[in-house]
Amino acid sequence: MSEPSENTVLPRKLIIAIDGPAGAGKSTIASRLARKLGYVNLESGAMYRALALKAIEKDISFDDEAALVKLAENSRIKLEPTLGGNRTLLDGHDVSSRIRERDVTEAASRVSVHPAVRAWMVSHQRAMGAGGGIVMEGRDIGTKVFPDADLKIFLDADPVVREQRRMEQQKIKGHVAANVAADLRERDRRDRERATSPLVAATDAAVIDSTKMSEDEVLEQIEELARKKLGAK
Ligand code: DC
Repeated sequence: MSEPSENTVLPRKLIIAIDGPAGAGKSTIASRLARKLGYVNLESGAMYRALALKAIEKDISFDDEAALVKLAENSRIKLEPTLGGNRTLLDGHDVSSRIRERDVTEAASRVSVHPAVRAWMVSHQRAMGAGGGIVMEGRDIGTKVFPDADLKIFLDADPVVREQRRMEQQKIKGHVAANVAADLRERDRRDRERATSPLVAATDAAVIDSTKMSEDEVLEQIEELARKKLGAK
């Protein structure tokens, strides 16, 4: 696939936040954008997923906030940016594939509602991105993790389209597809309705509705915004 423009040289290292609901295309766009700019792509959701996996393994209730924070404090959760996306390490083990499975996906949605869990995650995510030159994606990057980010994108899409994309991505059909769609709606609801840092566009975010856009078009639009930011400094 050809990129919108090659040999991009950007002089200053921005902090770029990409937030939005599941299935809007954040991960792919964030990873391609980071590659184009020579930046590091950090998937904040993978950290919630890693903690959720550890809670499953240690049989800790997803509702026990104090135990989850203690678990986080006693874990080594690391994101290793690679050309193909983030490698997620939990206590030194590569859990990148395992954390995409359905039980972990559901658990991550539940552990992420707790304010103290979020505070732990936010402080680590800030430390990881403080130097700039990052594209961090998640749900609260522009509102909470980096409220002063140089560029904030809220990437959205029609729920039906997001569900279809997810099915295609995971090559899912039939009755399994109905389950995946229901899971996605429930996670969406939890993300948007939680009391702490609900999924919402930052007031200064550029909202991009990708429902009728190709991946290339979205990427091009965000890259253009990044260039403008650099020009304005
Ligand atoms: O982006 P993802 O699907 O990998 O995220 C997994 C879960 O973590 C998702 O249910 C929402 C939550 N999450 C969050 O609350 N805040 C973030 N910054 C990133 C993810």
